[in-house]
Amino acid sequence: MFSCCCLVAVLLCTWSSSVECNPSPVLGDVVVDKSFTPNVCSREAKEGDFVRYHYNATFVDGKTFDSSHQRGAAKVGLLGEGRLIAGIDKGLQGMCVNERRSITVPPHLAYGSTGAGDVVPPDTTLVFEIHLLDVWNKADMVVTKTVTTPKDCKRSVMSSDYVRYHYNGTLLDGSVFESSYNRKQTHNTLVGEGWLVKGLDEGLMGMCVGEIRHIVIPPFKAYGEKGSGTEIPSQATLVYDVLLVDIHNSKDNITYENQVVPESCTRKSVVGDYVRYHYNGTFLDGSTFDTSYQRNSTYNTYIGMGYVISGMDQALVGICVGEKRRVIIPPHLAYGESGAGEVIPPSAVLVFDVDVIDFHNPNDTVGIQVTYKPEVCNDTTAENDLVRYNYNCSLMDGTLLFSSHSYENLQDAVLGAEKVIDGLDSGLRGMCLGERRVVTVPPHLGHGEKGATGVPGSAVLVFEIELDEEVPQEEFAEFIKLQVAEGKGRIKPGLTMDQVVVDMFENQDRNKDGVITADELKLKVEEDKEREDMKHEEL
Ligand SMILES: *[C@@H]1O[C@H](CO)[C@@H](O)[C@H](O)[C@H]1NC(C)=O
Ligand SMILES: *[C@@H]1O[C@H](CO)[C@@H](O)[C@H](O)[C@H]1NC(C)=O
Ligand SMILES: *[C@@H]1O[C@H](CO)[C@@H](O)[C@H](O)[C@H]1NC(C)=O
Ligand SMILES: *[C@@H]1O[C@H](CO)[C@@H](O)[C@H](O)[C@H]1NC(C)=O
Ligand SMILES: *[C@@H]1O[C@H](CO)[C@@H](O)[C@H](O)[C@H]1NC(C)=O
Ligand SMILES: *[C@@H]1O[C@H](CO)[C@@H](O)[C@H](O)[C@H]1NC(C)=O
Ligand SMILES: *[C@@H]1O[C@H](CO)[C@@H](O)[C@H](O)[C@H]1NC(C)=O
Ligand SMILES: *[C@@H]1O[C@H](CO)[C@@H](O)[C@H](O)[C@H]1NC(C)=O
Repeated sequence: MFSCCCLVAVLLCTWSSSVECNPSPVLGDVVVDKSFTPNVCSREAKEGDFVRYHYNATFVDGKTFDSSHQRGAAKVGLLGEGRLIAGIDKGLQGMCVNERRSITVPPHLAYGSTGAGDVVPPDTTLVFEIHLLDVWNKADMVVTKTVTTPKDCKRSVMSSDYVRYHYNGTLLDGSVFESSYNRKQTHNTLVGEGWLVKGLDEGLMGMCVGEIRHIVIPPFKAYGEKGSGTEIPSQATLVYDVLLVDIHNSKDNITYENQVVPESCTRKSVVGDYVRYHYNGTFLDGSTFDTSYQRNSTYNTYIGMGYVISGMDQALVGICVGEKRRVIIPPHLAYGESGAGEVIPPSAVLVFDVDVIDFHNPNDTVGIQVTYKPEVCNDTTAENDLVRYNYNCSLMDGTLLFSSHSYENLQDAVLGAEKVIDGLDSGLRGMCLGERRVVTVPPHLGHGEKGATGVPGSAVLVFEIELDEEVPQEEFAEFIKLQVAEGKGRIKPGLTMDQVVVDMFENQDRNKDGVITADELKLKVEEDKEREDMKHEEL
């Protein structure tokens, strides 16, 4: 310490009273020469303020007798309380942070006729080069200023919230003491629980994700007299520029937004269902970390069984096919404090926009909904029947995969002959002529986990079917040939297949209109015992 401190205090008391009695417009005899004035000056040092400054003290001849730099720390002083050399006290008034001044102090406002020990001889004029670093007052509060406000703010920081933020920490003179950007990761902390200095606990309150806030904290709400490490000196005002990235509370559950439920929802997903969905995964700040669309395929999973993060497991239960919802998942229901690889940072809240394409249960059977039933229904389709039909095949989201209307010919199939997927085969049974149905086929009765050309894996298929009435002769011939091929009949010796077919066709075409309706065909196959026997003989 400067050996004359005590002496100075005594002298100051003596001299300051005489200074106050002297109403000189030029700060008594102190001469202030501003060598640098900063562009911005948000505050001027005044009586009652604490100041922190660097100084070089010289004699008029330029010889240095003291310097804060040599002492290794800036000096902290209180203005207007008689604790500083009277001339310095006066000379610092009105000074801005980062301003540089040269203050020339006459002996009567410094160490007078006594001098200061061996260092300052009696009646010496002193010159102080001052660089002001900090100004604060005991009455200061934490001052916050919002620099950028996000468009919408659904939630703002409250006590006991856990936040992630980026920040630049500077001292009042602009020197950076710390920056999260250098570490390339956010600072993660609880708010209002004493994890932070008091001033930050206060300054972060009410912040929204995406907001940038300028927070100025007086030293007594920061690191006070002790300072912190080598970066934060004693009694330093701290300035934080904070960008809030993330916020959640350990009590949070998942929450939903932007829910769009389709008008018809016959069934909601339950635990054990297999769901196919598209999603966009973002963080609270809106940046995307993953999206299924990029992969051109849905994400598929069983739900409620721990195959996906628990927040998603919950979010996918009770949802309709075609439903869209945004689910916000706090980290304890997502990837927690460890995050996931390079993609998900620790303690990140995840936002998923989900679009459920379809779901099914491994226990599901074919769903049949009759949309039109003709008044007359004398017979229905059954195993071994040749059926002809029109159909549209779509995914649950309405994407059309196939339409028989795009082709000239109707589709046909012999039921039970494994010509069509199992689900469609059962969906075509028990139908009347002219009947229309919507048949829903789960993937295990369709194209399975692998899918087929144009059919995604594990997709639920929807068939709109209309059973056609007419079976022309060529078609009939195919049917008969098939029956023979499958060993369900044999050709009478001495007859050709074609002769048999023409023969039979004429027998079956009861109304002689040139076509055999499926009904007519069935009468032949199932009802007319005599003819059936004959047919079998003929075949
Ligand atoms: C004190 O002198 C040193 C060396 O010349 C200089 O770097 C420093 O900026 C000076 N400090 C002030 C407060 O003028
Ligand atoms: C922190 O400083 C960096 C570099 O100057 C800047 O890019 C960033 O926007 C600053 N952050 C805040 C929150 O002001
Ligand atoms: C969280 O929400 C889910 C439904 O979304 C509910 O089943 C669960 O009970 C909730 N958990 C708590 C702790 O409230
Ligand atoms: C499927 O059915 C079986 C037997 O009825 C039942 O034990 C099982 O829980 C069902 N599975 C699902 C996922 O519903
Ligand atoms: C997804 O489809 C688009 C357009 O068809 C194509 O450009 C892209 O390469 C596909 N991406 C993948 C991962 O298959
Ligand atoms: C995902 O993002 C894409 C591109 O912005 C958008 O077209 C799509 O609708 C989004 N999906 C959901 C489920 O929000
Ligand atoms: C259906 O049956 C009714 C009464 O059994 C009969 O009158 C009608 O002609 C039959 N229709 C056809 C198309 O065979
Ligand atoms: C297939 O879709 C077209 C166009 O919507 C429709 O006109 C037709 O009736 C549908 N076919 C069946 C069998 O439902």
